[in-house]
Amino acid sequence: MENLKGQVVIVTGGASGIGGALTSVLVKRGASVVAVDINEEAGQNKVKESPQNIAFLNGDVSKESVAEEAVKLAVSKFGKLTGLVNNAHASRQKPLMELTADDWALSFGTGFNATLHFMKAAYAELKKSKGSVVNFGSGAALNGQATQASYAAAKEAIRGLSRVAATEWGKDNIRVNVVCPLALTEGVIKWRESSPEQYKQIADHIPLSHFGDPENDIAPIVAFLLSDDSQYMTGQTIMADGGDIKLR
Ligand SMILES: NC(=O)c1ccc[n+]([C@@H]2O[C@H](COP(=O)([O-])OP(=O)(O)OC[C@H]3O[C@@H](n4cnc5c(N)ncnc54)[C@H](O)[C@@H]3O)[C@@H](O)[C@H]2O)c1
Repeated sequence: MENLKGQVVIVTGGASGIGGALTSVLVKRGASVVAVDINEEAGQNKVKESPQNIAFLNGDVSKESVAEEAVKLAVSKFGKLTGLVNNAHASRQKPLMELTADDWALSFGTGFNATLHFMKAAYAELKKSKGSVVNFGSGAALNGQATQASYAAAKEAIRGLSRVAATEWGKDNIRVNVVCPLALTEGVIKWRESSPEQYKQIADHIPLSHFGDPENDIAPIVAFLLSDDSQYMTGQTIMADGGDIKLR
């Protein structure tokens, strides 16, 4: 299916995990992708999948200059920017009272600040292309899961920002939506090892009875939000979680 033919999309954290799957799937659907990530090796491996259509930028998304560089790279290499996926987000899981200033800075820097900086850097180009922004939320934030305070707070800040941007940028035909995924990535596999009971609790309650596969279950939902098929949708939070949370 080539529903993203001619699109040019920035994917933060686009070298591995859900972001890595997104880079591959968006390219298979006809897009060119600028993958921004701190993992040089994984980034270079992604480029090898499709050197014509994937550019890798080694950069820390919490630095505002990296957002500007990514937009410049999209325009210089592929001629425009039609989509932005703010997927990267690093955080540490600890009880609320044990979280340090550095822990809070990591989650807000790579999650909220990065999303804001990339949206601001991309705005002018997205206005030209009537583009689409997909930001990432989390079911852990909606549920208020224990040990996730710095992560949950940043994720809900991202959802608030996304709703306001959807309202303000509607007149520019820029759409802004949020996806909350539930996927079996390497990070989640590690978390399953350290918190087996929490993992089992969640897995047992998923109506579609499995954690999502990044390529087959999560990426197509993001592709839909980037494509014209969702042209009348903005400001929404979409649960890509097998029915785990029914948002109303
Ligand atoms: N996996 C899940 O089930 C799940 C559930 C809820 C929400 N999410 C959200 O989905 C998104 C992707 O999750 P994931 O599980 O694939 O994460 P991950 O940790 O597996 O991958 C994140 C990618 O981002 C990169 N990255 C980390 N810090 C970075 C930085 N400072 N600058 C640039 N790149 C950086 C990593 O190198 C990696 O390639 C995140 O926003 C996450 O919070 C995931």
